[in-house]
Amino acid sequence: MASTSTKVVDIHTHMYPPAYVDILTSRDTIPLIRKFEGAKDPRYIILKDELEALHKAAADGSAPSHLPGRPVTSHYSSLDQKIHFMDTHKIDISVISLANPWLDFVATEAASETAKSVNQEFSDMCAKHPGRLFFFGTLPLTVTPEDLLASISHIRSLKYCRGVILGTTGLGKGLDDPALLPVFKELAENKLTIFLHPHYGLPSEVWGPRSSDEYGHVLPLALGFPMETTIAVARMYLAGVFDKVPELRMLLAHSGGTLPFLAGRIESCIVHDGHLVREGKVTPARRTIWQVLKEQVYLDAVIYSEVGLKAAIDASGVDRLMFGTDHPFFPPLTSDEQGEWESMTWNMEAVKKALGDGSEGTKAVMGGNAVQVLRLYEE
Ligand code: URA
Ligand code: ZN
Repeated sequence: MASTSTKVVDIHTHMYPPAYVDILTSRDTIPLIRKFEGAKDPRYIILKDELEALHKAAADGSAPSHLPGRPVTSHYSSLDQKIHFMDTHKIDISVISLANPWLDFVATEAASETAKSVNQEFSDMCAKHPGRLFFFGTLPLTVTPEDLLASISHIRSLKYCRGVILGTTGLGKGLDDPALLPVFKELAENKLTIFLHPHYGLPSEVWGPRSSDEYGHVLPLALGFPMETTIAVARMYLAGVFDKVPELRMLLAHSGGTLPFLAGRIESCIVHDGHLVREGKVTPARRTIWQVLKEQVYLDAVIYSEVGLKAAIDASGVDRLMFGTDHPFFPPLTSDEQGEWESMTWNMEAVKKALGDGSEGTKAVMGGNAVQVLRLYEE
């Protein structure tokens, strides 16, 4: 366990640099940023489940309380605001990343250059606060395999970069696509950790006809996001990606979705699957998903309760959990945004309740693990 560091590190914290905000503002399909009359801040609309509300607001106007998406406050792109958030919550180091949907929507011709400038912008932000900021880079997934490898080469050269943030679509066929293996190998060889983050959720139909009007964003965010992560990693595991790239290291958002809870069921389904058994895929040498969780996977601690956190710790080990806030998402709605956020206090309380206030485990999860795993002491 990484017991020496008492630093508090936030490894799940996003930024939208101004140039990226400009791209979103110029678009008329999701993802987009749109201004609405009477609303203080522009709105950011990303989820397909928000489309209906967007069309409604565009057609007949919506009350400010019913506008689609989320407000784009200074928390999205101001570096000073990020540092203020860190200072307010006594966060020593943040590992910042572009938020969803990254560059997934950028046309092939523009994607490499856009990735280069976004990654450079992140690097410049980190350079303004040496030792306090590191980042996960962004990959241009719509480009050719050669250009994708060139982008990794650029990312690798950036002093404060410690990995890449990645969604679940890969090159369009998911993360179990064999065409992604060279990318995973290149990242692994360069010790660049993949921060796997959801965006697409599940098909809207599963939420039922009442969801978009009556249930806000609760179902897609609370359940769709974690299921998406769970499915993506289960597919990678079943495709043997972790065996093919044993040095690959993945940090899974939201404590691994539901993997810690469902790993036993995944194992049971594997050993009882006649097809897999007949194909010789269920051998004694097979690494179980439990082993992969303990050897190649890290989990963030963005789960808001000690119940889920304990499952994550049981599954991956206390030395593989890392604290995060998901700032600037989930701002306080009834108190000053410049003050305390529950994303900090709930997640920190969960760590203390699960591991004990002041314990070595708490120190490790709150920052020590991130310092070790992501080499936050190295320039
Ligand atoms: N909503 C998002 O779209 N992304 C996050 O990271 C969190 C909430
Ligand atoms: Zn996030």
